[in-house]
Amino acid sequence: MRVLTKITPETINWGELGFGYIDTGKKFRAYYKDGEWSEGRIETEKNVFISEASTALHYGQQAFEGMKAYRTKTGEIQFFRPELNAQRLIDSAEKLLMPAYPEEDFIKAIHEVVRANVEWVPPYESGATLYIRPLLIGIGDTVGVQPANEFLFTVFVTPVGPYFKGGMAPTKFLVSDFDRAAPRGTGAQKVGGNYASSYLPGKLAKDQGYSDAIYLDPVTHTKIEEVGSANFFGITKDKKFVTPKSPSILPSITKRSLIWLAENRLGLEVVEGDVYVDELDQFSETGAMGTAAVIAPISSITYGDKEFTYTDGVEVGEVTQRLYAELVGIQKGDVEAPKGWIQTV
Ligand code: PLP
Ligand code: COI
Repeated sequence: MRVLTKITPETINWGELGFGYIDTGKKFRAYYKDGEWSEGRIETEKNVFISEASTALHYGQQAFEGMKAYRTKTGEIQFFRPELNAQRLIDSAEKLLMPAYPEEDFIKAIHEVVRANVEWVPPYESGATLYIRPLLIGIGDTVGVQPANEFLFTVFVTPVGPYFKGGMAPTKFLVSDFDRAAPRGTGAQKVGGNYASSYLPGKLAKDQGYSDAIYLDPVTHTKIEEVGSANFFGITKDKKFVTPKSPSILPSITKRSLIWLAENRLGLEVVEGDVYVDELDQFSETGAMGTAAVIAPISSITYGDKEFTYTDGVEVGEVTQRLYAELVGIQKGDVEAPKGWIQTV
């Protein structure tokens, strides 16, 4: 008989964590009814009890965020640019006709939920972090295709390790034949529907040994858009930092930060524009960037019968390494942050 032992902060092996869910026991929840948000409070039940007629269940009226709490060398806990997550959730809410959860309340909520789960913030040396998942969903009784009258804002946390197996070890990616988001749809919002449509292409890529699918622009299928869970960057042979610009990709906070760091700390020229899939050989390094992915170096990209290999396919490129050191150094408190980027819990 298998004995199930509950994982606790005392028994957990922080260094071996992947990107999985652990119920840490404390969640922040606020409810929207009759045109206003409730105060919001810490609750202990992981299950949410909602109407079978909730719009989130039928029509995907929901949006979410992904952010992290980082433990510093001195044991403090900090957030990285959390107001940008708050603003992006407001943007997603507006697109799906949901009431915004105000920025100030969002910031208060994440402080409160991390403080309530403080023993789950992984130690500095472990390399793990506390992932924070804010979620806004339409609930209540609605069956026609129309917005809900009631909403739930909930935030859970879970300790995580690398999103892509190997973390900073380069892995291979496959350009998908499928589209992730429509040109004038919701690709730039963090809403569940974009992720549901990435399941099948992601599975097809993973079944063939790739880490994930890379999507092309849905209009011409000639330009790189992004990965299903991260933005894309390439470093050209003459050391420019290049990243796609498109209305159907998620405006990544990591991307916006790396653009600034590449320019201001590494002195690189930055190009945000079209990245033609036929021109992938202009790069000497490529990678995926995001909160969960951090910086995941790409060893090769397969497009039809072509395969583009970066560095020697094994090593992490020099620029990627320097970007990683800056970004993670700031997030973990080892490198001086630009003004306003860090908030202490
Ligand atoms: N693109 C997609 C589709 C994502 O899911 C994510 C993750 O949030 C990103 C990009 C990276 O965004 P961020 O850096 O804000 O986490
Ligand atoms: C994130 O990086 O926070 C994401 O949301 C990516 C993925 C886990 C959906």
